[in-house]
Amino acid sequence: MSLPDRRQFRWRCSVCCAGYPLDAVRYTCLSCPGTAALDLVIDYERAGAGQPPGSVVNTAEPSMWRYRALLPVGGAIHPGLDRVGWTPLGELPWLAERLGMRRLLLKDDGRNLSGSLKDRASALVVAKARELGERVVVTASTGNAAAALAACCAASGVRCLVFVPQGTPPAKVAQLRACDAVVAEVPGGYGRAVELSYEVARRKGWYCRTTAFNPYTAEGKKTVALEIAEQLGWHAPDVVLVPAGDGNILTGVHKGFSDTLAMGWTDRMPRLIAVQSAAAPALFEAWRCGAQVPAGARAGSRAESISVAVPQDGRRALRAVRATDGCVAVVSDEEAMDAVNLLARTSGVFAELASAVTTAALPGLLADGRVLPDECVVVVNTGSGLKDPLAALGRSRPVVQDSGEYAVLEAELTRLLADDG
Ligand SMILES: Cc1ncc(COP(=O)(O)O)c(C=O)c1O
Ligand SMILES: [Zn+2]
Repeated sequence: MSLPDRRQFRWRCSVCCAGYPLDAVRYTCLSCPGTAALDLVIDYERAGAGQPPGSVVNTAEPSMWRYRALLPVGGAIHPGLDRVGWTPLGELPWLAERLGMRRLLLKDDGRNLSGSLKDRASALVVAKARELGERVVVTASTGNAAAALAACCAASGVRCLVFVPQGTPPAKVAQLRACDAVVAEVPGGYGRAVELSYEVARRKGWYCRTTAFNPYTAEGKKTVALEIAEQLGWHAPDVVLVPAGDGNILTGVHKGFSDTLAMGWTDRMPRLIAVQSAAAPALFEAWRCGAQVPAGARAGSRAESISVAVPQDGRRALRAVRATDGCVAVVSDEEAMDAVNLLARTSGVFAELASAVTTAALPGLLADGRVLPDECVVVVNTGSGLKDPLAALGRSRPVVQDSGEYAVLEAELTRLLADDG
């Protein structure tokens, strides 16, 4: 498989539609005020549209780089970045039965290099950073994007600086420190972390990965959708559920399925359903009142990965939901905690709280007919539960204490194991 022809890619502003050659712009639209996100436009003819996927996709490559032909980055991919992607898509038969569904599948992106879907964005950004000869990459993050960037930088010899909100779970901070990232904790929350990342990138010239601001983030994340389609034998599912904070995963998933359609590899677009925490509902509020851009909302969710007041990619996320006839749902943090445990006890997969909101939303979506029981539904596990293992502990099965008397202990254990709970 050869490298993609760079002439097949260009950027288009998601707000004013201004077009730019691939290397003419670093981050966002040069005409729009603020930070208007850029969409990648692919000349699908040049990329091989109409040819069978096997002649474009490098099926021997067990990582996201199997879709190199559709990724706008040149040069060799550093070893280490090839530990990202090609994660398992598996059936959830017990959970499907319990919810009365015909087919429910889990795309397990907790199995990535740093344990989250964010690795896909970071791998592409770091590959781009290496192509550009950048020495330092900086990002703002609620935790996982930072861990992903730290891991990808460590794997490929680039320095990493991250701004994370104070209160980021210790397991994520430990990951950052182990990967030798320079970590700045920000008392002003995620919004302030984003501002600081822009400012330091502007003043120092360091390459900024911050979500949606860097246009390569959504392009990396689109590979999860390409994989889902390929793993279903080049079929799109009926529905894909994605947890949403900034909304950039949603944008990426939409782009990935759009690519498969445009290449002629699938014949329809799934409905995309975004799930948020009721304690951080900016996208939900905008969707409900018909707004194109979220006005911002409170952000007090225990699921800190999606506790975002002003989504950085809100406009494109809402567009993705509406264009696919999807919707935005919210669940309480308690429902998400119960879903962490439900998913684990029916599949063994321990998901991060932010990720379990999709499982938590299913009963409500089925009840009001926004998901139908006979549809093929995919939930994306966007992060491993080991990222914040105590998040749902209070709502899981309690531990049995040994009182020192064997008979008492045995009776209790027998009683617990007889109950099919
Ligand atoms: C585990 C997990 N799920 C979902 C999300 C939401 O992604 P986005 O902010 O792109 O909507 C994040 C973002 O940090 C995350 O870490
Ligand atoms: Zn513009």
